[in-house]
Amino acid sequence: MDKLIISGGSSINGELRISGAKNSAVTILAASLLGNEPVRICNVPHLRDITTMIELLGCMGIEVVIDEKMSIEIHANTIKKFTAPYDLVKTMRASFLVLGPMLAHYGKAEVSLPGGCAIGPRPVDQHLRGLEALGAEIVMDEGYVKASVDGRLKGAHIFFDVKTVGGTEHIMMAATLAEGQTIMENCAREPEIVDLADCLIAMGADIHGVGTDTIVVNGVEELGGCTHKVIPDRVEAGTFLIAAAATGGCIKLKDVMPEHLEILLLKLKEAGADITCGTDWIELDMHGMKPRAVDLVTAPYPAFPTDLQAQMIAMNTIAQGSATVTETVFENRFMHVHEMNRMGANIKLEGNNTTAIIKGVETLKGAPVMANDLRASVSLVIAGLIASGETEVDRIYHIDRGYEQIEEKLQSLGAKIRRVAG
Ligand code: EPZ
Repeated sequence: MDKLIISGGSSINGELRISGAKNSAVTILAASLLGNEPVRICNVPHLRDITTMIELLGCMGIEVVIDEKMSIEIHANTIKKFTAPYDLVKTMRASFLVLGPMLAHYGKAEVSLPGGCAIGPRPVDQHLRGLEALGAEIVMDEGYVKASVDGRLKGAHIFFDVKTVGGTEHIMMAATLAEGQTIMENCAREPEIVDLADCLIAMGADIHGVGTDTIVVNGVEELGGCTHKVIPDRVEAGTFLIAAAATGGCIKLKDVMPEHLEILLLKLKEAGADITCGTDWIELDMHGMKPRAVDLVTAPYPAFPTDLQAQMIAMNTIAQGSATVTETVFENRFMHVHEMNRMGANIKLEGNNTTAIIKGVETLKGAPVMANDLRASVSLVIAGLIASGETEVDRIYHIDRGYEQIEEKLQSLGAKIRRVAG
């Protein structure tokens, strides 16, 4: 397995273009199954999760054309098989989202249940309840969800018990081809959901209220194709901003949407960063200073994103003062804490592992570390950038799932980092 070797102690400085959003691209690839014409997706990041999704569409017999700029064209009507196998769904949970579009467009689908992952059990009960409310017949058989409907799905009034990004996306996609109106209440509001809706509307869907907690979908007979450019990845952008803040650097990010990062920018200003923004760029300058410790609580958008929690803990390990970080979205998303403590951090977990209390220390010491979650892994890279000496981050295939060429991007910003084939 590849490793990243980091010689810490240098600050992150320079300019960087941010890639397209992974969590938008994977869902839009699933949405392409709804179209009767080709869907062309641009600004797609070159990531393992994307290739996994393309592999899944391929094994369903769907023709996928990729050009040299990673624009992807999907011809859903070439579909031959209506099954998404466990060996693919288990490696990339978002592939579960092909279920609703296949069911809505073709009346049937067999998709493996995604199972749990390192950060929690991650059930899909809200997805399945929503599809049943739309008239789907759902049978669970040997770890597979077998769904079918006679004729079209029927619009319904659906209430989510929890704010779920995937659940909101899944039901919104299925409702686009249902007969009649679907009202969805207590929806998630993440920017990636808005981006998905923009793509569906370009394909001919009739959707209102996306980005609020009530979405209304008026079903249509069929959807066509479109060309859609994926929004910038706010989590990648946030990760690099935090890395610069943690190392006292100065960074300018291009091709970003500052409005998607409002609460993070507020927290980094609290940490002492000077931040200026344009329509598609963000500049952060620490003037060589150490960050001040910052408290945060993760929650659904527009609150602080759970996907940037680990990175902020890395920054807090050497910040001035103490901070409290509370994770309310996932049950087990502090695995990086133990690894950072091995590097000399002073972090205690409380409240049944829901809250981390971080006391800033002078510096961290490099060590061999690893994590089992994409964002925890990248937070260890930030810890390695901060630490004195050498840090070896193992199992970096997690990082390759969500960050395009992370070592090249960090090298261009002055980091001493290299990939070693394992
Ligand atoms: C999406 O996952 C993202 N993934 C995650 O990013 C992100 O952390 C998460 O949203 C929260 O923002 C993609 O978009 C591909 P949820 P998702 O459904 O949709 C519970 C990353 O690092 N829940 O919003 O799976 C669930 O257990 C990844 O890029 C149910 O109880 O997250 C969790 O506690 C990690 N029943 C909470 O809701 C359900 O049916 C939020 O999960 C569905 C979810």
